[in-house]
Amino acid sequence: MEKIAIIGVGYVGLVTGTCLAELGNHVTCIDLDKEKIEQLNQGIAPIYEPNLNTHIQKNIAEKRLLFSTNLAKALISHDIVIVCVGTPMDDDGSADMSDYFSVLKAIADFIKDTRPISRKIIVNKSTVPVGTGKKAELFLLENGVYLSEFSIVSNPEFLREGSAVYDFFHPDRIIIGGNDTESVKRVQSIYRSLYRSRNPIMLTSIEAAELTKYAANAFLATKISFVNEIANLCDTLNIDVSQVTKGIGADNRIGRYFLHPGPGYGGACFPKDTQALAFIGKENGVDLKIVNAAIEINNNQVSIIVEKIRSLVGDLTGKHIGLLGLSFKPETDDIRNAPALALIELLLQEGCSISAYDPVAMPNTQAEIGARIQYAKDAYHAANDANAVVLMTEWNQFRLLDLQKLADVVREKNFVDARNVYEVSAMHDHGFSYRGVGRHSSDGEKTVHLEDIELSYGGLSDF
Ligand SMILES: NC(=O)c1ccc[n+]([C@@H]2O[C@H](COP(=O)([O-])OP(=O)(O)OC[C@H]3O[C@@H](n4cnc5c(N)ncnc54)[C@H](O)[C@@H]3O)[C@@H](O)[C@H]2O)c1
Repeated sequence: MEKIAIIGVGYVGLVTGTCLAELGNHVTCIDLDKEKIEQLNQGIAPIYEPNLNTHIQKNIAEKRLLFSTNLAKALISHDIVIVCVGTPMDDDGSADMSDYFSVLKAIADFIKDTRPISRKIIVNKSTVPVGTGKKAELFLLENGVYLSEFSIVSNPEFLREGSAVYDFFHPDRIIIGGNDTESVKRVQSIYRSLYRSRNPIMLTSIEAAELTKYAANAFLATKISFVNEIANLCDTLNIDVSQVTKGIGADNRIGRYFLHPGPGYGGACFPKDTQALAFIGKENGVDLKIVNAAIEINNNQVSIIVEKIRSLVGDLTGKHIGLLGLSFKPETDDIRNAPALALIELLLQEGCSISAYDPVAMPNTQAEIGARIQYAKDAYHAANDANAVVLMTEWNQFRLLDLQKLADVVREKNFVDARNVYEVSAMHDHGFSYRGVGRHSSDGEKTVHLEDIELSYGGLSDF
């Protein structure tokens, strides 16, 4: 059992702190946001994340989990300090490290004011540029801390919002990068109960750990952009992309995950991490062409959804759109870089009015964009009198809509399914004109059959 301070109680800090407490560690979570801390001390999570509240309440009751705004008080008794503050995108695409270095400054001031004090292990869980571990060390030395008083360890986070608690307890890998063997061992020990049957711990250099996080996110983002590009080609060739993705995903070298076309990736990580990696490449004279292409394709994908809507309703001016889903993916209330919000901006510019529904992300959206759109009480109210219904987030409750009820409330039966949730035939059966992403969805249009391809390319036997 270790005593751990978590600094920054956002999606990562809160999940990590709570789950480390569940593993038996004593955890104090620190944030500058007083309101958030007060709410958490009453056992209420400020974010929506499945199963999180239960673990928070249980660990508060069992006195292993505390929330506070007092960093110094936590540092006195806690030697492992996990930094989980945000590293958002700066104007030039690089990671904005101001919160991170203000935390380091506070740690440095604390150590200077309180020495002699036990050695602090500063663990970077925030996603930080390659070289941050080294920079952090120099920063602390320049701010009067002795080398013997601290060590830096990198332990990047790979959780997925929406299944973050599950991911914590079932990690594919836990990467720990560090030069100080004793510190690495202690960080390893906080996860001990997670690996009875299979040890997911991988020990690396600090720089390799830092780069692994960016490379993993960039690879996943690239997979999404790749499949979106193929889907856009399928739209033109009138091929059903799901047949193609099934075919390529069956190859174990490719894998069947992350092959779902849609409105592009969003969230707090992929957009900023791909940009930050491209920036790191540029800074070091390496043009990361694939990463840059993934970004470019993604930046255009929401416009493709707008064109799909236009193809159904014609001129968009004055058209009313029913929007289903606001969060960047299901099972989260996170709307940071959500494709639905980018779509809203484009549709408002085109002169549309919008009525939206999301099971959990409406308060965040309201706080962000206010009354520029209407907020409905359910999917059918959002669709009421709409010229087109657009499904942007594949929440489970949008997967089994009563299509007849939907058909009865809309003004025009147009459905844009940005997540390819529905069968084209089911939509047509209810009289909807339908557009998916990379699906042969228009009535009467020609589908390219295998025989056509064989004719065009002189047979497929060589492939
Ligand atoms: N959200 C994800 O899915 C995810 C996944 C993996 C990694 N990450 C990375 O983890 C880091 C945190 O991401 P997040 O989504 O949890 O961020 P977040 O914005 O949700 O939370 C950051 C928290 O840090 C607090 N904070 C800022 N400055 C502080 C300070 N000086 N002292 C104490 N608290 C301070 C803020 O008040 C906020 O509550 C980022 O680097 C991100 O890239 C995020």
